[in-house]
Amino acid sequence: MRIFFKTSKIFPLLFGVTACVTAAGDANLPLFKSYSNKNSQRVASDYHAQGTDGMVVAAHPLATAAGVAMLEKGGNAIDAAVAASFVISVVRPQSTGLGGGGFLLYHDKEQKRQRIFDFRERAPIKASSSMFIDEQGNYKKIMFNGQLVKDPAIVGHLSVAVPGLVKGLVETHRELGKLDLRIVIAPAIEIAAKGFPVYLALAREIKDREQWLRLYPGSRKVFFLDGKPLEAGQTLVQDDLAKTLQLIAAHGHRDFYEGDTSRKLIAEIKRGNGLIDATDLRGYRVIERVPVSGYYRGHRVVSMPPPSSGGVHIIEMLNMLEQNDLSKLHPRGATYLHYLTEVMRRAFADRAKEMGDPDFVDVPVHRLTSKAYAQKVSASIDPERATPSSSIGLSAPTGESPSTTHISVMDRWGNAAATTQTVNYSFGSCVVAEGTGVVLNDEMDDFTTKPGGSNAFGLVTGTKNNIAPKKTPLSSMSPTMVLNKEGRVELILGSPGGPRIITAVLQAIVNVIDFKMELLDAVHATRVHHQWMPDTLRFEDGAFDNDSKKRLVDMGHKLSPIESVGDVQAIQREQSGLMHGVSDVRSDGKPGTPAHVKELK
Ligand code: DON
Repeated sequence: MRIFFKTSKIFPLLFGVTACVTAAGDANLPLFKSYSNKNSQRVASDYHAQGTDGMVVAAHPLATAAGVAMLEKGGNAIDAAVAASFVISVVRPQSTGLGGGGFLLYHDKEQKRQRIFDFRERAPIKASSSMFIDEQGNYKKIMFNGQLVKDPAIVGHLSVAVPGLVKGLVETHRELGKLDLRIVIAPAIEIAAKGFPVYLALAREIKDREQWLRLYPGSRKVFFLDGKPLEAGQTLVQDDLAKTLQLIAAHGHRDFYEGDTSRKLIAEIKRGNGLIDATDLRGYRVIERVPVSGYYRGHRVVSMPPPSSGGVHIIEMLNMLEQNDLSKLHPRGATYLHYLTEVMRRAFADRAKEMGDPDFVDVPVHRLTSKAYAQKVSASIDPERATPSSSIGLSAPTGESPSTTHISVMDRWGNAAATTQTVNYSFGSCVVAEGTGVVLNDEMDDFTTKPGGSNAFGLVTGTKNNIAPKKTPLSSMSPTMVLNKEGRVELILGSPGGPRIITAVLQAIVNVIDFKMELLDAVHATRVHHQWMPDTLRFEDGAFDNDSKKRLVDMGHKLSPIESVGDVQAIQREQSGLMHGVSDVRSDGKPGTPAHVKELK
């Protein structure tokens, strides 16, 4: 049982009084309530693996198996991450794919440094800040085959940004991988060609997006059988995707960006009056970036810089949280959850105002991640009252989507890779390019597509995130690593969930560092989410008991339930070298570790 003390050194007012008032209620809570995945027959231990020869954690067992197979063949963290990425592109088409993009954070053990590969989608050259809106400022009416495409930034050909995944994976592998690319892609080709059983969550997503997947002939061909959406248990075979993957295995990214595949992609884009042309594909560049980093209670936190907002805000929020000794608070108590919410609210207000592609706009990364800024901003937190978001900014609805995916890998040499990849919303634009099997993203929706509007995740962004040719839309994807004092990676993690990526990663880190939870508990514990706008504290079932709930409401928080916050895939390495891999119980992931490792000559 936890005991509550006066905790705050810097803000004695914040917890000094409140902790005493709330102590009795909080102390009666069980330490944490595990999240239960209602759709799974698995038990918590199925989501945990341990070993010393490397670890792969991905959101589908087949992707994990492919990564582990690479480690067993003597491959390194990049071989495993790339193999798992290609497989996840086949088995989670609702989340990611060759028509999408992502970020990869790599820790090089020898050189003791981290590198970031940004292969996110970019706006086509013909794109403009007003491309989605008509003269009255409303979304344009786009028709396809006689049907109105209601949300042209989320569905259809105009929503597609220039895909970066293939170039990103191939180039990263060429520079850092050890195994032949053909070996690394082989598992994905085999699964695409032979097929795999449709699982419940995939069947549900196909059903959810049925209207749009049915509209586009390329998608209808892949996700429907005899005119009906594929159901759980049926086999999803992707012949065209297998062929596209074979061309990548044989020619690297050339065919995809300049050859036959590129011509098929362009033909599809033209069919729906999209903007991407051959120059866009040929000109796509992977960008290497400098990671953003900070210190949290002596641990070094390294994460994704802009054009993701994730790393900056994770560090900004940790800096605010660091000002109080959270270990003395209850992880499910109102005192902690109030402070956590206020910290999230302030960081997401900054996101809306300050964030965009750093190659186009000025993003004050150093200011936002400085300890001094965190002190200044958190000084406005009232220990007894929720700050209305309207006193910091506008209102907007929020959406949910089970898309995007994260893979964490560590090899036995201590190299590590964390990569988050996406087609954005579920099945991206819902357009599969005919003859390629490639699901095209709808990443244009991550830009500010309409002044004052919000995107599919209810996120409001400002003019810094306006559309411009070749610009990268703002992201929340946050592949993250925590390093110990010797510079060794002690924790790798990431998540899908749009804005909830940032808060899921944050809470997992705090659970490990402050609440000293084992990784399995840290990942499975219930989570909350606040993103400034809408001014609502979203909470998972069991995130707090009735007493804490009442106290949060009394403080002025508007509470609203949410099915889940993120889907964390994480690895923790103990000082002894033992690695723990944990997949989030919220989804269908699985950790895996090599049984026998072959030495590579
Ligand atoms: O880059 C981003 O932040 C979004 N496109 C990610 C979308 C996402 O995570 C959807 N998953 N639930």
